[in-house]
Amino acid sequence: MTATASIEFSVTPSTNRRSEEDRAKILANPGFGVNFSDHMVGIDWSVDLGWHNARVQPYGPLSLDPACSVLHYAQEIFEGLKAYRHADGSVWAFRPQANAARMQRSAERLALPPLPEAEFLESIRQLIMVDKDWVPSAPETSLYLRPFTIASERFLGVRAAQKASYYVIASPAGAYFPKGVAPVSIWVSEHYTRAARGGTGAAKCGGNYSASLLPQQEAYKHGCSQVLFLDAVDGTYLEELGGMNLFLVRKDGSLLTPSLTGSILEGVTRDSLIQLAKDQGRVVEERQITLEEVQVGMNNGEIAEAFACGTAAVITPICSIKGKGFVAGRDDAPAGELTMSLRKALTDIQYGRAGDPHGWMMRLA
Ligand code: COI
Repeated sequence: MTATASIEFSVTPSTNRRSEEDRAKILANPGFGVNFSDHMVGIDWSVDLGWHNARVQPYGPLSLDPACSVLHYAQEIFEGLKAYRHADGSVWAFRPQANAARMQRSAERLALPPLPEAEFLESIRQLIMVDKDWVPSAPETSLYLRPFTIASERFLGVRAAQKASYYVIASPAGAYFPKGVAPVSIWVSEHYTRAARGGTGAAKCGGNYSASLLPQQEAYKHGCSQVLFLDAVDGTYLEELGGMNLFLVRKDGSLLTPSLTGSILEGVTRDSLIQLAKDQGRVVEERQITLEEVQVGMNNGEIAEAFACGTAAVITPICSIKGKGFVAGRDDAPAGELTMSLRKALTDIQYGRAGDPHGWMMRLA
């Protein structure tokens, strides 16, 4: 049972909505993260007032004081989830309660105010109510929702801000990678790590992603689409990719994924795939995995498939994992069979083509 939001949202409709024709053109080829719907949600927070001023407003630039601590100390967190259009025209979110809970954990780690689940869910519902025409209906498309909270107090001292603002923006989305679900190569970073023990690795905060950009560029230079980080203590164990979790499939059909050690993001897609694989009677091992085990396994066939997963990328097959002086797998390896069947099982639920045995879907419109 989800609680009812205790704050009311005001709605200021945009006077500058995109024409139906412009919107149709965008939805026909949405790409990822380049176009945005006509409205956004904002909710302010202060120590004195708590959460207040909940509103749906026209999408547009924020006005921020240059001394806001988000601009200096990166006190910021975000989420990513999608709204899916089903064949009957209805619009649904996938496990939004899991995003609400993770955002609360991220808020705690970044010393930001946690938004109650009811307000988080209502903020998404409110945005969809005004912008439901922005949810595309073509196969594999969705409306990507990006809630985020920033420290908005004007103060340069280093302490938790006493004012913050939460927003939700929405962006029609197709495939995250330009080549769609074609298999990608992954580059193992030798010099850089993503998250230290006791750091912010399990939080969804902007700083984790900005720190991944330089190693990500290194990956591009080597013809790879994503960087894979190893643990910061020993440089031995797989952690996660720049913006996604990682799975390996053994030749016996069992799955293997790095365990949540505190420095890995607790992916909602990761968690859902573990459940779906277990529903199929598969063994899923969550444990520390050495790079050596992957190098050996991908080359002797013990590891038959690998894939990346996340809300944005859904499931993207991995054909090879490379690093300084080694290649595991082959650049021309096709997408794995189990990888693609898990992708189908997940997206069938999300798009309403299959039943929803775990009650993961929440109707928005
Ligand atoms: C997501 O999969 O939603 C992410 O947040 C990854 C990336 C786009 C930052």
